[in-house]
Amino acid sequence: MTAQLQDLFSFLRFASISTDSRHAKDVRDCASWLQQKLLSMGLSAEMHETARHPVVVARNEHRADRKTVLIYGHYDVQPVDPLELWQSNPFEPEIREGKIWARGATDNKGQMLAHVLGVEKTLREQAFLPVNLIFLFEGEEEIGSPHLAPFLEQHREKLHCDVIAVSDTGMVAAGVPTMGYGLRGIACAEVTLRGPKSDLHSGIFGGAVANPITALARLVASLHDDKGRIQISGFYDDVRALEAWESEMWRQIPGVAEADYLRSTGSPAVFGEEGYSSAERIWARPTAELNGIGGGYQGEGSKTVLPAKAFAKFSFRLVPDQDPQDILEKVSRHFREHCPPGVHCEIEIGHDGKPYLADPHSADGKAAQRALQKAFGREAVLIREGGSIPIIQSFREILGADTLLLGLALPDCRIHAPNENFPVENFETGILLNQFLLDELANA
Ligand code: BES
Ligand code: MN
Repeated sequence: MTAQLQDLFSFLRFASISTDSRHAKDVRDCASWLQQKLLSMGLSAEMHETARHPVVVARNEHRADRKTVLIYGHYDVQPVDPLELWQSNPFEPEIREGKIWARGATDNKGQMLAHVLGVEKTLREQAFLPVNLIFLFEGEEEIGSPHLAPFLEQHREKLHCDVIAVSDTGMVAAGVPTMGYGLRGIACAEVTLRGPKSDLHSGIFGGAVANPITALARLVASLHDDKGRIQISGFYDDVRALEAWESEMWRQIPGVAEADYLRSTGSPAVFGEEGYSSAERIWARPTAELNGIGGGYQGEGSKTVLPAKAFAKFSFRLVPDQDPQDILEKVSRHFREHCPPGVHCEIEIGHDGKPYLADPHSADGKAAQRALQKAFGREAVLIREGGSIPIIQSFREILGADTLLLGLALPDCRIHAPNENFPVENFETGILLNQFLLDELANA
């Protein structure tokens, strides 16, 4: 195994699950490992405490006559459950079929380490970098980066940069270099409907009081019409229309036809807002999703219960120029106004993040496309992303710099799911990409 793969395996062995407080020490140990790795490359590297998980910042020696590039990534990962569906231990990486299997292999440790090892390789080969470099790595991306924006405010001068590069997004298909120029935003909320003061016998009381699960089903159903259009009043008010060149360009991109989504999702049909292609629905239109729902009896067989409560977890994916706070107000109003009779409605607002959209044809954007072309041997396609990385818009607002999204994830890398994997080839090409990238940006 190469030294680079060994590094990735060491990095992957930390169970750095940011949402689970039982893993706080694993998150911290992972940050220390990262700091040591960066120090061993001759960079200055610091670990900064936050109220929760540390931020790691590293830099080379900066010179006034060079461009400053900031590279961001996250070393925290999603939880692993359901554990029984994993073919191998999520924190004991293995290579099978040319892929690295582990939680975080793609999102984001594999992609992040490709940045680091690309820089390490250039430092080995020529002892210096063509740019002023800042590495900024956080351990809270998967919980909405609660402490990173304040950290940016606090260290605004030290983090000042001309452009930002991030590999934490996807490629449309294997071997097709992909540059992202947009991300959806996100707004989360949880609703609990409460009926009787405790669970009731559904024969003794059923029919005389409202059932919170039935009420919840009605409330959930009020979010969309039959064609998948969101029914929340004012929800689409600030949605910016797709530009003609985007629709035109996206029609020619491989890997995003209806058949591709049928294959990659296993769904019996595609479904979504009328009048848009699948790619447009994901990259440029907002959604209202249920991420979890519960209440009543979940065990084997039947139990005649009229439950005291039912809950549902929602997230809304947003596009420019929707504002998460505005959307959450509209969502709350909708839930209050559509709450069926006979239950109390409690709304708990969760985390949020703004959408992001940049010009892919800027000088730095073109430089990134040249780097992608050199690394992968073919021309890059330009896409927006359906996923969210809320800190990217904060980078623009606080540091004044735009971000190049150089994703290396494939549609079947199973990020956030059991059996997450990252092709060894993407890891190696990613390392190469970062070498080209710094050269191209230096000359852009
Ligand atoms: N790397 C993903 C985001 C992503 C994945 C963007 C694929 C584009 C394509 C990131 O780690 C992530 O999962 N973000 C969360 C954000 C949330 C927790 C605030 C997301 O999108 O659900
Ligand atoms: Mn993620």
